[in-house]
Amino acid sequence: MRLEGKRALITGSGRGIGRAIAVRLAREGADVAINDLNVQGDARETLAEVQTAGRRGVLVQADIGKAEQARQLVEEAIRQLGGLDILVNNAGVERRAAFVDVKEADYDLVLDVNLKGTFFVTQAFVRHLRAEKRPGRVINISSVHEEMPFPGFSTYCLSKGGMQLLTRDLAVELGPNGITVNAIAPGAIATEINRALLDDRPRVERLLKQIPLGRMGKPEDVAGLAAFLASDDADYITGSTYYVDGGLAWNYRE
Ligand SMILES: NC(=O)c1ccc[n+]([C@@H]2O[C@H](COP(=O)([O-])OP(=O)(O)OC[C@H]3O[C@@H](n4cnc5c(N)ncnc54)[C@H](O)[C@@H]3O)[C@@H](O)[C@H]2O)c1
Repeated sequence: MRLEGKRALITGSGRGIGRAIAVRLAREGADVAINDLNVQGDARETLAEVQTAGRRGVLVQADIGKAEQARQLVEEAIRQLGGLDILVNNAGVERRAAFVDVKEADYDLVLDVNLKGTFFVTQAFVRHLRAEKRPGRVINISSVHEEMPFPGFSTYCLSKGGMQLLTRDLAVELGPNGITVNAIAPGAIATEINRALLDDRPRVERLLKQIPLGRMGKPEDVAGLAAFLASDDADYITGSTYYVDGGLAWNYRE
């Protein structure tokens, strides 16, 4: 087991990609802190799967889009697990709107969760590692849209573009502390964030023609890479983004 004895916090792990990562890290031997906006519903299913894997799981409710809650989330995960070694910044939201129609509230929501949340959760995690003089892993769940335009989702692109440069910047700043910082850029993964797409069969068919591997991704496709980046096999990897997109990025048209 590659992550025996490690402790991981995965934001937004009540469902979707975050859940798959929490479960996969647990299967690799890690204890995990499961975070979501509400931990009474779906997150309990994540917890049950972590426990089935034979690891300790704890539920920590927090809205990472609020800096104070982001800090408290990390403190609570540390208190309950006895420390943290791995942080996966997974929680994310998107709102569709033509650029000219974007409302301030939607701009704030997307930027607060995807970027500000990532920023302040990571800050609290790094302060913990520095205080304990220990190395650590930060894995940011970005998107192919950290690089590729996505008309109708300017706020999302802005947030993931920011995450790309935050990943590179922190890799340089935190490298001397033995903290690696990498990003995963999923393509089209079948989760609730894509509910409108999944319910529109003709749109799905058009999308599938653009994916060289011929299918949408599964959350588990992303989780395998997260487990690798969290493991000792990735000791010398930092500051990079890894695509998990079935080849979509090289064949994408809106
Ligand atoms: N599904 C895809 O195709 C895809 C593609 C590229 C990137 N991503 C990214 O992957 C990540 C996970 O997305 P998903 O597809 O699993 O979506 P999802 O909507 O199924 O899951 C996101 C989870 O984050 C939680 N969350 C939202 N706001 C939060 C907040 N403020 N604080 C704490 N938790 C919060 C939600 O409640 C939900 O459980 C996101 O960052 C998303 O941008 C997804």
